[in-house]
Amino acid sequence: MSATVITVWEPQKGPQSAFVACPVFEVFFGGARGGGKTDAVLGEWALHADEFRADAIGLMVRRSRIELLETFERARIIYTKLGATFTQNPMRVAMPNGARLTFAYLERDADAEQYQGHSYTRVYVEEAGNFPSPAPIMKLMATLRSGAGVPVGMRLTGNPGGPGHQWVRARYIDPHPLGWQIIHSPEGLERIYIPSRVADNVYLGADYVQRLRASGSPELVRAWLEGDWSVVSGAFFPEFSMDRHVIAPRSLPDHWPRFRSFDWGSARPFSCLWWAVSDGSIPDIARGCLVNYREWYGMRPGEPNVGLRMTAEAIADGIRTREADDPGVMVGVADPAMFAEDGGPSIAHRMMARSVIFRPADNKRIAGRGAMGGWDQVRGRLAGDADGRPMLLLFSTSVDLIRTLPALQHDDARPEDVDSDMEDHAPDSARYACMSRPFIRDAKVVTPTDTWMRAWQRSERSDAAESWRVA
Ligand SMILES: Nc1ncnc2c1ncn2[C@@H]1O[C@H](COP(=O)(O)OP(=O)(O)OP(=O)(O)O)[C@@H](O)[C@H]1O
Ligand SMILES: [Mg+2]
Repeated sequence: MSATVITVWEPQKGPQSAFVACPVFEVFFGGARGGGKTDAVLGEWALHADEFRADAIGLMVRRSRIELLETFERARIIYTKLGATFTQNPMRVAMPNGARLTFAYLERDADAEQYQGHSYTRVYVEEAGNFPSPAPIMKLMATLRSGAGVPVGMRLTGNPGGPGHQWVRARYIDPHPLGWQIIHSPEGLERIYIPSRVADNVYLGADYVQRLRASGSPELVRAWLEGDWSVVSGAFFPEFSMDRHVIAPRSLPDHWPRFRSFDWGSARPFSCLWWAVSDGSIPDIARGCLVNYREWYGMRPGEPNVGLRMTAEAIADGIRTREADDPGVMVGVADPAMFAEDGGPSIAHRMMARSVIFRPADNKRIAGRGAMGGWDQVRGRLAGDADGRPMLLLFSTSVDLIRTLPALQHDDARPEDVDSDMEDHAPDSARYACMSRPFIRDAKVVTPTDTWMRAWQRSERSDAAESWRVA
C-alpha cells in the first residue's frame, strides 16, 4: 500500500481494509450507517490513483446534489493533503500525478446517458439504495474500460431501507446473505458484498449510536445499526434478525436428532428444509434449538415464486441424494395436502415408494380453541428462550428461507395470519418443522448460583469468586 497515501488516510482494520484491497470487479460495501463507507471509497480512489497515476480515471456518483456535496467536502479534506487541486464546475479532483475523479449526481435515471461513451477505470456509486432502479447504474457499468490496461471496477455503498432496498438486496445480499463470498453473474462477471457495521468504525462512539436510535422506527434503526437487509417495515416477523438467526455453516454433532420438513409445490416452488435439534452440547446453540442446516428450494433460477414442475418421484430422488451423508435415518413432516388421494396414490405415497418418508404436519396456522398456532411457534422460537437465546437458527446457505421469511407481511383481513399471496413456501415448511417440536418458553427463576455459573462460564473467574463468597 502506498506510503504517501497512508500518512494521510489509512483504512481501518476489518471490512474497510478488505474493501480497499478487494480485486473483485463489482464490490458492494454496505450495511450499517456510519460504518465508514464514504471514507472507504474515497480512500480506495486515493490508492487507485496512486498506483495508476494519469491512467486512473474515476467517476463518483450519488443520487442528489446535496448528497454529492457531502462526499465532495470529505474528499477535499483527504485529497488536499495529497496535493490535489479541485474545480467546482465540473466538480472534479485532479491529483498531482494526473489521476482525476469527477463527481456527478444523477437525479433522473436518464442522467446516466450523458456518460455513454466515456471511459473510466473506477465508477463509485455512493448510497446505491437511493436509486429506485438499478438501470442508471448498469448504464455506468458500460463505461468501465481502460486503453492503458488498468484493471477496472465498480464500487458501491449503501444502507438498508432506501427506495432501492429490494434491488440492492436481490443483487448483492440474497445470494450470500452474510457476504464475503463471490457471486458469479450469468454474464461471467464477479461481484461481492462486504458487510460493514457501526462497530467496525472506531471513529464513531456511543453518542452516534444514540442519535441514530432517535431517528427512525425501531426496525429501521436496527437495520441501520446491524446493516440488516432482511428488515422490512410491517414485517410479520420483526423478531427475525440476520445477526441473531443466521449462522455460517458448520459441522453439527452426528448424535443430534435430524429431520426434514417439506412444503409441496409444482407450478410454485417446493421447499425442503433439513433440521438438527440441539442437545445443548455446543455452547452458543441453546438446548432444543432447531438448526436448519440445508435447504432445497424448487424455484426456477432467478424467478422468485416460479416452481420447477418436478414429479414427486424426481423430488424424492433429489432428497435422497442430498441426504446421502446425513447420519441416521431421516423422517419428515410435510404439507397434509400431499396425503390426499385423488383417484391415485397421493404425492406422499409416491415419495414413500422411493423411500422418502413423511408424516402429515400439523397445519394449523393460527392458535384457537386451546390449540397452538404454527406462526406463534415460529415467532416463539425466533424470540428465543428465557435467556433470549434464539431457538431457531438458519445456516447462511438457506438463502430462500432467509429471503422470504423476513419479507412476510400481515394479511390485511386477518392480521394474525400471513398474507398468503406472498412467497410463503419456505416459511410454511419451517412452520411444519416448528409444529413438530413445540417450544414453550419457561419463566426462568434466576438463582445466585445461576448468576455465578454464568459469570464463570464467561471466564470472569475473579468476579465469580467474589459473588460466590458473598453468596
Ligand atoms: N479510515 C478512516 N480514517 C479516518 N476517519 C475515518 C475512517 N473511516 C471512517 N472515518 C470517519 O468516521 C465517520 C463515519 O464514516 P463515513 O462517513 O465514511 O461512514 P458512512 O458509512 O459513509 O456513513 P453514512 O451511512 O452516514 O453515510 C466520518 O467522520 C469519517 O471521517
Ligand atoms: Mg456515507
